[in-house]
Amino acid sequence: MERLDKILSSQGICTRKEAKKLCASGGVIVNGCTVKKSDTKIDPEKSEIVINGVRLEYKRYIYIMMNKPSGVLSASNDKHAETVIDLVPDEYKREGLFPAGRLDKDTTGLMIITDDGDTAHRMLSPKNHVYKLYRAELDAPFTDKMKETLESGITLDDGTVYKPARIKSVSSGKTTVEIEICEGKFHQVKKMFAYSGANVTKLKRLAVGGLFLDESLKECDCRLLTDFELGLIFDSNNN
Ligand code: URA
Repeated sequence: MERLDKILSSQGICTRKEAKKLCASGGVIVNGCTVKKSDTKIDPEKSEIVINGVRLEYKRYIYIMMNKPSGVLSASNDKHAETVIDLVPDEYKREGLFPAGRLDKDTTGLMIITDDGDTAHRMLSPKNHVYKLYRAELDAPFTDKMKETLESGITLDDGTVYKPARIKSVSSGKTTVEIEICEGKFHQVKKMFAYSGANVTKLKRLAVGGLFLDESLKECDCRLLTDFELGLIFDSNNN
């Protein structure tokens, strides 16, 4: 059982404050009865909820896009450091939320946060070829030799194997490179560039599959993904 205001906000209908007003005005009907109090507890999976005459299609899982800032851990909780889950606004907070994939503390950009383990697994498993696009700033100009190394795949001395990356663009000054990888190994982009001969000084994730970071989201901000956007992650044209 969950509070009605929490259900409405987590489904992206309105904020909890607005839910209070909406209920008080008679705009919310649950199983045929008007519910005037927004703190009423109901089972969202077994109830019919109608808002201003429109039936709510209740979604069991939540998918949040965040523009991750630097300095925040991509973990569910940490005793000492702030995590991406700490940044999720109250209206989207619920049990079981976790970041789908890890970005380093100093990496910024597209982070997907969900409570849907299966979808996260599909997104992250290298065998599904969901490419992740990063913009890397380098401390040395990018060369053809480096491109060849990255696009051939790399085996480090410790035996770690990185599958071939895809170089999507190189800036005119040759120090900003957009690169796609379909794995998520520890520090992978930084280590691949270091192996090829340049250090990454700044890293931002721009896309996962065909889903791009909404550039209107300021760092730290979140919003819900639409069903269409969720589908874009697995859009094979981009993977
Ligand atoms: N590769 C890295 O090196 N760091 C990240 O945060 C993500 C990919």
